[in-house]
Amino acid sequence: MRRGLAGALLDLKSLPARLADPARRREPWAFVHNVGDGDYVVVGAQLLGNLKDYAGLKPSDRVLDIGCGNGRVAEQLAPFLRGGSYVGFDLSKAGIAACRRRFAGRPHMAFEHLDVWNGEYNATGRMPEADVVFPAVDASIDLAFATSVFTHMRMPGLRRYLAESARVLAPGGRLAFTAFALTQDRRASEVFAFQPFDETSMIIDPRSPERAIGHWRPALEAAVAGAGLTLAGSWNGAWAPPVQYDGGQDLFVAVKA
Ligand SMILES: C[S@@+](CC[C@H](N)C(=O)[O-])C[C@H]1O[C@@H](n2cnc3c(N)ncnc32)[C@H](O)[C@@H]1O
Repeated sequence: MRRGLAGALLDLKSLPARLADPARRREPWAFVHNVGDGDYVVVGAQLLGNLKDYAGLKPSDRVLDIGCGNGRVAEQLAPFLRGGSYVGFDLSKAGIAACRRRFAGRPHMAFEHLDVWNGEYNATGRMPEADVVFPAVDASIDLAFATSVFTHMRMPGLRRYLAESARVLAPGGRLAFTAFALTQDRRASEVFAFQPFDETSMIIDPRSPERAIGHWRPALEAAVAGAGLTLAGSWNGAWAPPVQYDGGQDLFVAVKA
């Protein structure tokens, strides 16, 4: 309900852009599935740019979008991928339905719904995050990415998603994900007042821990290594200074040997 109302406000803000530009009238409504603040096109383009600049995204890549929401990055990827392919999955039935409608007739863009439990997004979901199997066969993906998804997951589920990423990545494949990587110097900011939760993480809302979860950086790095991935780089996002790249959350890129 809270996310839906916040989504309705975003929809109101988007009205001028929708009225001014006919191409934007087909954008999904945030009250149906709210993937967060900001202009749908501007944020999507920023995320695509970061995948190109930091994770080496190429038009020929086979891409997996973990928690694709309502297609904010898919919208940018559809014209970019030439020779490549895309599969996105999400726990939101409405988000996936909207994507399937919008990308119908584009065979290189596929979308899967998984009824995964998440306290913030799908509290009635039947599948625990720790049991999820990604919709891709072993070693079939060049670039997997999760933008603003691990920031809603506790560590056991996150470890599973890292292991699944390692399974589906081809040798040399990359995983890009965003996180709130907590350190003693960067563990709260004006907007994100993180408070203690468990030994690996902090949260902002005890009534809904999955609303935003920060993970202690050493635990995050250990989870990446535990999944058999090698951390290639990480960059601080604008949520807490000092900022090292053009993104809100911290960006991590890991590689499968
Ligand atoms: C803030 S939105 C970001 C959506 C999309 N990645 C983007 O950047 O536009 C978070 C998304 O993660 C999805 N999500 C949360 N937990 C998930 C999980 N365990 N498995 C798959 N999707 C999940 C939500 O349904 C939501 O679409």
